[in-house]
Amino acid sequence: MITATDLEVRAGVRTLLSAPGPALRIQPGDRIGLVGRNGAGKTTTLRILAGEGEPYAGSVTRSGELGYLPQDPREGDLDVLAKDRVLSARGLDKLLRDLEKQQTLMAEVVDETERDRAVRKYGQLEDRFSSLGGYEAESDAARICNSLGLPDRVLGQPLRTLSGGQRRRIELARILFAASDGSGKSATTLLLDEPTNHLDADSIGWLRSFLQNHDGGLVVISHDVELLGDVCNKVWFLDAVRGEADVYNMGWKKYLEARATDEQRRKRERANAEKKASALRTQAAKMGAKATKAVAAQNMLKRADRMLANLDEERVADKTATIRFPEPAACGKTPLMASGLTKTYGSLEIFTGVDLAIDKGSRVVVLGLNGAGKTTLLKLLAGVEAPDLGQLEPGFGLKIGYFAQEHDTLDDDASVWENIRHAAPDAGEQDLRGLLGAFMFSGPQLDQPAGTLSGGEKTRLALAGLVSSAANVLLLDEPTNNLDPISREQVLDALRSYAGAVVLVTHDPGAAEALDPERVILLPDGTEDHWSDEYQELIELA
Ligand SMILES: Nc1ncnc2c1ncn2[C@@H]1O[C@H](COP(=O)(O)OP(=O)(O)OP(=O)(O)O)[C@@H](O)[C@H]1O
Ligand SMILES: [Mg+2]
Repeated sequence: MITATDLEVRAGVRTLLSAPGPALRIQPGDRIGLVGRNGAGKTTTLRILAGEGEPYAGSVTRSGELGYLPQDPREGDLDVLAKDRVLSARGLDKLLRDLEKQQTLMAEVVDETERDRAVRKYGQLEDRFSSLGGYEAESDAARICNSLGLPDRVLGQPLRTLSGGQRRRIELARILFAASDGSGKSATTLLLDEPTNHLDADSIGWLRSFLQNHDGGLVVISHDVELLGDVCNKVWFLDAVRGEADVYNMGWKKYLEARATDEQRRKRERANAEKKASALRTQAAKMGAKATKAVAAQNMLKRADRMLANLDEERVADKTATIRFPEPAACGKTPLMASGLTKTYGSLEIFTGVDLAIDKGSRVVVLGLNGAGKTTLLKLLAGVEAPDLGQLEPGFGLKIGYFAQEHDTLDDDASVWENIRHAAPDAGEQDLRGLLGAFMFSGPQLDQPAGTLSGGEKTRLALAGLVSSAANVLLLDEPTNNLDPISREQVLDALRSYAGAVVLVTHDPGAAEALDPERVILLPDGTEDHWSDEYQELIELA
């Protein structure tokens, strides 16, 4: 159970949230959806609930086990095997390694007394392992991993060789494994920050039923309305403008209705306030003419100003980015070709001999199972990684715009402004300010280090970088991840109207639909095909 009392959360000088009293409480059986626009403070609040951040004011008490999945994959020891990382949640990884060591020893030693000792040691270790439920645990862990799209092959690899998405899924598997100790009921409180970002539809379905059956408390941040609808029995809505959390003790559908009603009420109040303010102004103007009433008139004006100032803040809430991709620079008929692309990580072959040609203005979707090398292919095409074999053949006028899945193109230590400056060194200052404004960055946020931006804000900044680039080939790796529904629609609109070529990797069926592609490249074989409804369905299913 977690209780936050008089919680106040700030970012810089901005109050993200103030929740008087014990309003925010997570009890067993609670399945809470934490929602709000990008940058509203969801991640910051969840970190504080998890004990990884300090609130500006107030206190948080926790009891029982806790499983926290952060929004960004945590750095850690990348040489650990994926399987061990999952098992380490219950301390089984070390035991298992010791067992394996003894096993080799037993096979290798020739001296009889030594072998006897090894056999004894092995027996002891095994007793411990099985008394901890090790054997079932191992298969439990594998089952959870498989359900999250992590096949056994991947589990035997060190984390370093996994894609960002795979690593994040390992973290999710680890937390769910810890929370399901085989006995069925679990009292672990789960705090999950956008757990579906790197999951395919099957895995999302599995996760949904796992969460529905979870007995401990749960807070899940998600922009996936289906998941919220199926899982949540409570909703916390963070309102970035008012800096408040509205607690709704009801499921998703009822919440939507209740919020619509709340918003209507606020709108009415707003209209009323506006009417009053303008009445005050008229009155003040009349009175102001008389010297004896000047002070009273001034006060009236002040009151009217205050009323209207509050209203302006409310209006900003509905602001959305207007995202347009760039006017592509002139280029030849086929701006980008590649032949014989081959990539392996250690002994793991990702793909071999992939040929492709991206024609001017053409639209291509790259499809393949999780781990089939989609992100790797885009990295090769972007030139941020080199192929083991094969080469890129840039055509006349090629200008690439690359959107990386983990926002790798952003410099975390540099400010928002420096990042955009770097992306478009030749653009004029006014143009860049305008551009950032369109992507909803302004004022003090321009000086904020990119590393401290929220997930959705990072996505927005990386997309803004593309726009300033006059790219004629966009390589987009999951460009709708992290975006709240309104911002996602903006990106889809931008995709629809962009005139240049696009190579898209996505799990989001809406993104593929918006792109309206002509072709598909299937990984790991690299075969090409015409786009069809079947492939569209594949994204919906796969
Ligand atoms: N050091 C900082 N200085 C100023 N602002 C900051 C700092 N760190 C975070 N912020 C801001 O705090 C706000 C809340 O961020 P948070 O990550 O909690 O948002 P979020 O609701 O999780 O958004 P998203 O849906 O995009 O993940 C963001 O606007 C972010 O830019
Ligand atoms: Mg977040």
